[in-house]
Amino acid sequence: MQQDGAHAGGITAGHGLDWPALFATRADRMKASEIRELLKLLDQPDVISFAGGIPDPALFPAGEFGAALTAALSGDSKGAALQYSVSEGYKPLREWLVTRMASLGVPCTAENIMITSGSQQALDYLGKLFLSKGDTALVGWPTYLGALQAFNAYEPHYDRLTPHANRSAADYGETAAANGGQVKFAYASADFANPTGETLPESARQAILDLATDLDIAVIEDAAYQSLRYDGAEVPPLLALDIARTGSIEASRTIYCGSFSKTLAPGLRVGWVCAAKPVISKLVLIKQASDLHSATLNQMAIHTVASNGFESQVAKIKAAYRARRDAMLKALETYMPRGVTWTKPDGGMFVWVTLPEGFDGASLLAESLRTERVAFVPGRAFFADGSGANTLRLSFSCASEAMIDEGIKRLGRVVGGASA
Ligand SMILES: Cc1ncc(COP(=O)(O)O)c(C=O)c1O
Repeated sequence: MQQDGAHAGGITAGHGLDWPALFATRADRMKASEIRELLKLLDQPDVISFAGGIPDPALFPAGEFGAALTAALSGDSKGAALQYSVSEGYKPLREWLVTRMASLGVPCTAENIMITSGSQQALDYLGKLFLSKGDTALVGWPTYLGALQAFNAYEPHYDRLTPHANRSAADYGETAAANGGQVKFAYASADFANPTGETLPESARQAILDLATDLDIAVIEDAAYQSLRYDGAEVPPLLALDIARTGSIEASRTIYCGSFSKTLAPGLRVGWVCAAKPVISKLVLIKQASDLHSATLNQMAIHTVASNGFESQVAKIKAAYRARRDAMLKALETYMPRGVTWTKPDGGMFVWVTLPEGFDGASLLAESLRTERVAFVPGRAFFADGSGANTLRLSFSCASEAMIDEGIKRLGRVVGGASA
């Protein structure tokens, strides 16, 4: 037996294994998220944080969940609540979602719905289902960082989804072929996107469907924020527009990913996918192999709370977030120096700020934390090509209106004092 720092079967005493040499190539693209690192800052009491895009815990319907969990663990349901269950998800919840989807202009059956552990799991599964190494995914520039992280594991290329750009399907196809694969899907967050807060008008949604039809690819619709509209008229989901074109969900190419995280509670990890049956059948097989099913107790609790008062809960959180959105837009108007621009979202949790060219969001964050104790997310992480250094994401969901005013006043000072 070897001792004292000698090699033994690849193990160097005191140094551990050379893990990266053993990891699959896909692990090269798994990097720590700037946002997750920043979430740690929320715990420091003197930091005003616009960084984490999370719901305000004060708005969670905790009492309703307490009652729902107690009921699920009593009487006849307690065995089922704690037992293994089917991968498709808890049937009463899927049936509730059939009614919800119908109200959004999506006629479907429970067979078109699979429950996931948050919509994040749906993004991972869809990456697994569609992307072979070298295939291309069309995404926004910027787009949701968590989607890039989910898809990255399947080693795709990214190309820029620009609904109204003068770029032909053939051009997208040729670029993907030159990269050794095919375009497989377009991923879009149509309502109050993370990170920009922007909503695609119906014409842009139709343009995405046109492009997807020309390329004969799927469309992944990320609807995480769809219920959080504060102003303006609802725009039909991509899936509803697709069904209006094709006549039925079975003929449509759009895969809708929904979530209860932003409306009821993210900690229970309940989301859903709504799509044509051949897609759902494959996703069910992926889920069987991945985690068998999402927690039944959580699905039951979500079902009870949603059935008893989804609309009133959504109305309550919308009133709070609308006031915070208004406070942030007003404060930006008051305190930001000339040359800085920002989005004016109709819903969701985010405002996207663009600084003059040459500014760097990451250095600004370091400066802002040091001098003014204000946190935000530098925008670069949301771009598949690492561009966007002069952008920032601000979330208004967790700060009071007074904190928002104070935080943006401080941020205005940091931006005003910084140079490109
Ligand atoms: C655009 C978008 N999609 C999906 C998710 C994932 O949410 P969940 O897995 O909690 O449903 C998030 C979370 O922040 C998000 O911002």
